[in-house]
Amino acid sequence: MKVSKICCIGAGYVGGPTMAVIAQKCPEIKVTVVDINQARIDAWNGEDLDKLPVYEPGLDKVVAEARGRNLFFSTDVNKAIKEAEMIFISVNTPTKTYGEGKGMAADLKWVELCARQIAAASEKDKIVVEKSTLPVRTAQAVKDILDNTGNGLRFQILSNPEFLAEGTAVEDLLDPDRVLIGGDTTPEGKEAIDALVEIYATWVPKERILTTNVWSSELSKLTANAFLAQRVSSINAISELCEVTEADVSEVARAIGADSRIGSKFLKASVGFGGSCFQKDILNMVYISRSYGLHEVADYWEQVIKMNDHQKARFAKNIIKSLYNTVNGKKITFLGWAFKKDTNDTRESAAIYVADHLLNEQAQICVYDPKVSAEKIYADLDYLNTRSPEENRKYVKVVNDPYEACMDSHAVAILTEWDEFVSYDWEKIYNAMLQPAQLFDGRNILPHQELKKLGFRVSAIGK
Ligand SMILES: NC(=O)c1ccc[n+]([C@@H]2O[C@H](COP(=O)([O-])OP(=O)(O)OC[C@H]3O[C@@H](n4cnc5c(N)ncnc54)[C@H](O)[C@@H]3O)[C@@H](O)[C@H]2O)c1
Repeated sequence: MKVSKICCIGAGYVGGPTMAVIAQKCPEIKVTVVDINQARIDAWNGEDLDKLPVYEPGLDKVVAEARGRNLFFSTDVNKAIKEAEMIFISVNTPTKTYGEGKGMAADLKWVELCARQIAAASEKDKIVVEKSTLPVRTAQAVKDILDNTGNGLRFQILSNPEFLAEGTAVEDLLDPDRVLIGGDTTPEGKEAIDALVEIYATWVPKERILTTNVWSSELSKLTANAFLAQRVSSINAISELCEVTEADVSEVARAIGADSRIGSKFLKASVGFGGSCFQKDILNMVYISRSYGLHEVADYWEQVIKMNDHQKARFAKNIIKSLYNTVNGKKITFLGWAFKKDTNDTRESAAIYVADHLLNEQAQICVYDPKVSAEKIYADLDYLNTRSPEENRKYVKVVNDPYEACMDSHAVAILTEWDEFVSYDWEKIYNAMLQPAQLFDGRNILPHQELKKLGFRVSAIGK
């Protein structure tokens, strides 16, 4: 079966870039990305490519090439469902904030709504692709809804989890380590798998396209994120041990990473991982394990989250301790708010939790981030509900200039590893700060020895 029209429900960090790349590589396929969020769709359709709703290096060029040719963004969900042979579900699946499984399970409300809408709007058989990260065995629920609420049509459900990393999304999509496609082992299931394989094979070498049964595919995505997050928590645990033993975490990471069984990637100690996925997906795995009565499995993975929370709190406590055990009324500058460099995504960013901790101690925080708006920063803090929106605006200032941000502050903390921070005139910053000028490098990106020579008191992770 040859697919000529694709619909993707959800124009977010995954739906937007993945579909833009499919459209760029397969000009003969019409790709329509739909969303209920009008503002988001307007931004995807906007003239100014600097204002796309998702910032990713290289994405503007891909969108410029395909948009209007065979890539479309729309809020007309039903129309796009009707005309497509293949529908990707790429909606958000956040941690539940209410009821059974609150704080642990994935909230599948939006996925279910999609399934019901697909069933209601469809007039011919379709392949439905789970692109969102979902708990293992969700495909069964999606199929059940489609089979029982549809018009007697046949639906094939595939799992095609996305492994892109924000900040390198376009690169990852153009040259993925692997593409994973799970489906039914029936002849119809295999046909559906082949249809999706054919799309990716336009630009991905066939040997990198892995096909599995649908449950393995669903579980592989959760497992991949759990393993990645586990490496960060493991090296962060070692960073604390380094700080009390005069070992250096960068040297330890280099030494163990040279072992080909361990490998060198994802061994960078930091203030803690953030992002919309790691925590949510591990919590979900913990929840699933517990629901099957696998308490040791659940406890094992839950520790990854506990370690990450500890690392964020430890960073904030270290700032307070270094500033003579009080930050009340003191200006502390945050360089970076995004959860990692080269993205404007702030979901679960370590900066939010470090700020919250310091605000509880009545610090005055000033934030500069090259890509994150003040509006987003306040929304992140308001969402915590720790204090009123008025208080957040009173104690947190957001500025557009890094030198202004650092002026008259007691301490500067690096929360995101943006490249530009390294090239700043640190002498100028030092001279504009209150003395003793303290620097907390939560990403270990700055030249610490040079900064010490300038007079800074430097605290780094695991040093
Ligand atoms: N962000 C990542 O790096 C990443 C990587 C891999 C996988 N994932 C997974 O992909 C999924 C999507 O993540 P995201 O970061 O793109 O989320 P997102 O919040 O950026 O985007 C989701 C979009 O879906 C839209 N939506 C929700 N319900 C809808 C409906 N019924 N009809 C139309 N639109 C609807 C929302 O308005 C939103 O714009 C999640 O399951 C996530 O775990 C994310």
